Amino acid sequence: MAPLSEETRAFRDTVGAFATGVTVVTSNQGGSPHGMTLNSFTSVSLDPLLVLVSLAHGTRTLDAAKHSRKMAVNVLHRRQQDVALAFAKRGADFPAEHAVLDPHGFYSVRHSLAIMRCEVFDIVTAGDHDLVLGEVVSFESSPGEPLIFHRGAFGGLDADALVPRGRVIGISDGEGWM
Ligand SMILES: Cc1cc2nc3c(=O)[nH]c(=O)nc-3n(C[C@H](O)[C@H](O)[C@H](O)COP(=O)(O)O)c2cc1C
Repeated sequence: MAPLSEETRAFRDTVGAFATGVTVVTSNQGGSPHGMTLNSFTSVSLDPLLVLVSLAHGTRTLDAAKHSRKMAVNVLHRRQQDVALAFAKRGADFPAEHAVLDPHGFYSVRHSLAIMRCEVFDIVTAGDHDLVLGEVVSFESSPGEPLIFHRGAFGGLDADALVPRGRVIGISDGEGWM
């Protein structure tokens, strides 16, 4: 990959101030699973139930979502940093050991905190990414702490740093990315 320009690096550092959870988006194209780590996730609408993800052009998951019109968004648990890195290797084989095919034809990531199974509602091109709106057709979640991504590092909610009316984020044990 070409080195990042100074402006791109500075922009990444700036948007990296915004802490997010971490998801893996999967899509099943004719029996071939694809998946990628993604933090550009947001919920959009309650009626209908819509979520949004931003996928870079050229990623296999975007191609699969465009063709199959289906995708699943898996929210990772704090202990799934290895899963986040496994799904972030460009061009790597689908890490099948972390996923399971459900009876509806969606790939869910084992031990994830939540899964939203979606039909593609709309796709909007935005620069070098496509914004994929998914209509959630089924969803489930389980208790547990989320994996957090902040300033290029993984971490979690730090229970030792409780402050009134909220919690600060501990990024002490994280491995960076990019
Ligand atoms: C924490 C994290 C967040 C990421 N978020 C996004 C994202 O929002 N959109 C995106 O296109 N790629 C994102 N990536 C990069 C993709 O996971 C990575 O480029 C992936 O390998 C692309 O799939 P490909 O192998 O089909 O190209 C992220 C990576 C990490 C580690």
